Amino acid sequence: MLDATHQLPAAPRVATHQARVLESRPVGARYHLILAEAPLLSETVRPGQFCHLLCPGVFLRRPMSVWRAGPGEPLGFLFRVAGQGTAALAALTPGDRLDAMGPLGRPFTLRPEWRRVLVLARGVGLATLSLLARRAAAKGIAVEAVLSAREPADLMEAEFTGGAAMAVHRVFDSDGSSAPEAVEGRIAGSAPDAVFTCGSDRLLRLAQRFAAARGIPGEAAIESRMGCGLGLCFACVRPIRTMEGVKDLRVCREGPVFDLQAVERWA
Ligand SMILES: Cc1cc2nc3c(=O)[nH]c(=O)nc-3n(C[C@H](O)[C@H](O)[C@H](O)COP(=O)(O)OP(=O)(O)OC[C@H]3O[C@@H](n4cnc5c(N)ncnc54)[C@H](O)[C@@H]3O)c2cc1C
Ligand code: FES
Repeated sequence: MLDATHQLPAAPRVATHQARVLESRPVGARYHLILAEAPLLSETVRPGQFCHLLCPGVFLRRPMSVWRAGPGEPLGFLFRVAGQGTAALAALTPGDRLDAMGPLGRPFTLRPEWRRVLVLARGVGLATLSLLARRAAAKGIAVEAVLSAREPADLMEAEFTGGAAMAVHRVFDSDGSSAPEAVEGRIAGSAPDAVFTCGSDRLLRLAQRFAAARGIPGEAAIESRMGCGLGLCFACVRPIRTMEGVKDLRVCREGPVFDLQAVERWA
């Protein structure tokens, strides 16, 4: 296991940031992206971490992975318009304020000695894993990515890679290529140093089998409904396997990134 104790790394102080929306537009039929100016947050947030976003007119904040970030870069979110909160976010226009609390949660691990990583992403998991994949590619780590979607029109490949060089396998429900045995066939010859996944239970189980068979580490980012996002209300707990048995751990605090083999369900 990468971090069986789920100890938290030293993290920048969590704060609410009044970001200024720079760009807000639909991506395909069901997704939306927002780029916002929030220099301190963008510089400090790490892949796998999230922000708790205030959605205009909605009481509880909504958790959203950071999709784009970096020194001098806007802060970006890529999300499925699922209900009231995300619809309110999608209605923001350039110049509007976006109240973003963060950076929150435990980030992904990228060890300096790793030379190749495999990333398995589906749906909203593309947003969560994109920053990790692009940071890995920027460090010279070879990235192999399985991007899974219902059909070709749903695949957000350009949004995932951001132009970084990666070996991409595109798999779809519409032609059966996203079936676990078909995906396993495609990656059977891969020899990564670590595996990362987010976005579906099928990909989670596939990643667990793949990593266990090769004795390599991995991590999964998981989802749950959230209240405070700060570790106080325990609304977000999920059963996670630890050295002391299965424990209810907080996705917002001990997660959302957990050791791959410790996770029972993605969402
Ligand atoms: C750490 C974290 C990171 C996330 N990152 C992203 C991201 O990058 N992009 C993205 O599109 N989404 C992401 N999500 C999911 C996102 O937070 C929810 O889709 C959002 O809160 C829904 O709010 P809403 O008001 O629009 O919908 P609601 O009205 O609250 O819900 C709409 C429907 O979605 C279901 N739902 C809502 N939240 C969740 C959830 N967390 N898990 C499973 N089902 C849910 C509800 O049961 C309901 O059926 C993330 C969630 C977490 C916990
Ligand atoms: S959302 Fe409150 S403890 Fe996680």
